[in-house]
Amino acid sequence: MQDCVISGTGLWVPNDRISNAELVASLTAATERWNLEHKAEIEAGVREPRDLPSERFIVKASGVESRYVIDRRGVLDPERLRPHLRTRGEDEPGIQCEISVAAIRGALDRAGRRPEEVDAVLVACSNLQRAYPAVAIEVQDALGASGWAYDLNVACSSATFGIQAAVDAVARGHARCAVVVNPELTSGHTNFELRDYHFIFGDACTAVVIEPAATCAVEGAFEVLGTRLATRFSNNIRNDFGFLNRCEDEPREPHELLFRQNGRKVFREVCPMVAELITDHLRELGLEPSQLKRMWLHQANLAMNQLIAKTVLGRPAGPDEAPVILDEFANTSSAGSVIAFHRHQGDLAPGDLGVLCSFGAGYSIGSVVLRRR
Ligand code: COA
Repeated sequence: MQDCVISGTGLWVPNDRISNAELVASLTAATERWNLEHKAEIEAGVREPRDLPSERFIVKASGVESRYVIDRRGVLDPERLRPHLRTRGEDEPGIQCEISVAAIRGALDRAGRRPEEVDAVLVACSNLQRAYPAVAIEVQDALGASGWAYDLNVACSSATFGIQAAVDAVARGHARCAVVVNPELTSGHTNFELRDYHFIFGDACTAVVIEPAATCAVEGAFEVLGTRLATRFSNNIRNDFGFLNRCEDEPREPHELLFRQNGRKVFREVCPMVAELITDHLRELGLEPSQLKRMWLHQANLAMNQLIAKTVLGRPAGPDEAPVILDEFANTSSAGSVIAFHRHQGDLAPGDLGVLCSFGAGYSIGSVVLRRR
């Protein structure tokens, strides 16, 4: 078994950005229109009116201030409330392939590697644009990489689950240079029609390069000291979109085919599970929480991250210890913790320890303990 490092990280961000004020203005217009259109049913007590969104609520409840999306025009159009996407032909790269290649190229540059040196590609994300052929195999082809590739989906935990799979493959010699990429186009699964959900997500794509420590070509890579995963079934975060929808006898409500959650329960149940997993993982590695210089946590909710960091450290974490990117990006699903890692790693000194940790639907939790070389 070989020791592995993360030798490079990359980030692709869409050009379009939407502030909370813009999002609230468009949903307010859409909601007022919807309530007017359904006035008779609402007055007859057949339907509930839809509640108006609030900018103040969003910042207070989540910490989100803006998000990037692939198409702000479609999302902000009160008559559409979802992105526009050009339908691409089979002879052109799919959009998830295109953004994956952009993020991977950035990660390979940092790792001092060329695309043709890659021999394993894992596309790990919450939503895949098609069933097959695997997006990962399309990415492998577009990069000119060799070896093998596959897609995996563990919702917001996809990145850490993918990193464990890649580390295992490299450690056992099944690959010499693996990339894990997280093309999260969450605006495709976000219900922009309901105030409970419209503010939560943003689009982004992240990538990491994993290779044997012995052949790593750059300074300052991160040694992977260990990975640990956990899952426990819960219905509190669901998206029932799938290939069997068309066969089901009872048609589903449209909102069931998009992201939905019971956010309060998620908050309450997931925070202790995450803190326990990180603490147990550190103990297993013979490390103390006080030795951690940084926690690159999944970016869904600011208060959630503050609580997890406080439980692990035994005191409130400073902004340097648990950096926040969700204010700018919102929840980018599996990309969130990797964006935090990508943006907030340069100041760590050789020997400094950090934990990359994601959590989300499933429930699923992943922890990757890293030491700067
Ligand atoms: N604007 C104004 N009011 C809103 C609102 C909005 N956009 N959304 C909800 N509200 C209202 C609710 O109707 C509720 O009113 P009530 O008390 O009269 O019933 C109140 O505000 C509180 O709603 P609630 O949904 O309980 O808010 P919350 O404080 O739990 O915050 C989340 C909601 C989603 C921000 C929060 O629960 C969260 O982030 N949880 C973690 C989710 C998570 O990590 N998911 C992982 C996904 S990968």
